[in-house]
Amino acid sequence: MAGETMRAVLYNGYGAGAAGLKHVEIPVPSPKKDEILLKVEAASLNPVDWKIQDGSLRPLFPPKFPFVPVIDVAGEVADVGTGVKSFKPGDKVVSLLNFRKGGGLAEYAIAEERLTVTRPPEVSPAEGAGLPIAALTALQALKTVGIKFDGTSNSANILITAASGGVGHYAVQLAKLGNSHVTATCGARNVELVKSLGADEVLDYKTPEGASLKSPSGKKYDSVIHCTTGIGWSVFEQNLNAEGKVIDITPTLWGTISYVFSKLTFAKKQLVPLILSPKKEDMEFLVDLVKEGKLKTLVDSKHPLNKAEDAWAKIMGGHATGKVIVEM
Ligand SMILES: NC(=O)c1ccc[n+]([C@@H]2O[C@H](COP(=O)([O-])OP(=O)(O)OC[C@H]3O[C@@H](n4cnc5c(N)ncnc54)[C@H](OP(=O)(O)O)[C@@H]3O)[C@@H](O)[C@H]2O)c1
Repeated sequence: MAGETMRAVLYNGYGAGAAGLKHVEIPVPSPKKDEILLKVEAASLNPVDWKIQDGSLRPLFPPKFPFVPVIDVAGEVADVGTGVKSFKPGDKVVSLLNFRKGGGLAEYAIAEERLTVTRPPEVSPAEGAGLPIAALTALQALKTVGIKFDGTSNSANILITAASGGVGHYAVQLAKLGNSHVTATCGARNVELVKSLGADEVLDYKTPEGASLKSPSGKKYDSVIHCTTGIGWSVFEQNLNAEGKVIDITPTLWGTISYVFSKLTFAKKQLVPLILSPKKEDMEFLVDLVKEGKLKTLVDSKHPLNKAEDAWAKIMGGHATGKVIVEM
């Protein structure tokens, strides 16, 4: 595809939010030896995309400007480098793109074989694109607290905060597949929806009961998958079992220091920071679950590439229900 151009959305500096996005026509990239060129069908946005743009992760991300953001995509293989063995043009796939290179908000993107998996016909582009960051994080968090998905898990009491969000809605479904009793928090408008995903008890986070995180049935939690911010340790602490753990996917420096301190003092109750470490076998597991109808991607909204700024504003607002999708 040398010499051809494509539509893409990029930004040229930190800040400016949706207004900082520019629609451009740029060359279609060429895959290197171990790379795959994808014709992108759908991309999903994550909070980390706008956090990179606002400079929260500088100086590492982005490595340079201009930057084409977004790393969760589903598409069709258009071309492969000479070293790629498992994919060929025409294959349908889901990919987690390279974090530093981004590239998902475009008609074509470069993916790596090690984080690309086959997408069966039962999994639509939007359903597949929703998975990488959000569902992998939910899965990793649940595995961290010992949940298994082969039917051998004992029933654990788990609290999932922000259960209507990108990570939270997958976490509820996966926790149920892992045989857990799930208490979830979300806004009033999403209580029935989160119950329909499998949550046993749901708390509206804007009520005093929701803010206290107390399980309506009086259960103490073995684990918390914490997918939002602004809840103090003392609130978690009083709701945890003796060895309860809070897996914090939005860790602060203070939270990380407190984790190190809790390890040094052999504290049984712990706030455990988690940063996603993606694995191909986990992506395959998640795609299979969607194929089998055991896991679904809740789609907040779909936006065409030429309205990518609407999708960007939606994810920045922090009130998406499920995943925000851009379709090419
Ligand atoms: N550590 C990692 O590797 C990693 C990986 C993925 C994500 N993250 C981080 O995890 C966080 C969640 O990601 P996400 O993709 O799930 O975000 P998201 O989809 O933007 O989450 C939005 C949802 O959170 C709900 N919410 C907001 N505040 C809440 C509260 N106090 N209590 C209960 N629900 C609340 C909103 O409900 P309402 O609309 O009703 O307010 C909305 O449904 C982000 O900060 C993200 O950067 C970290």
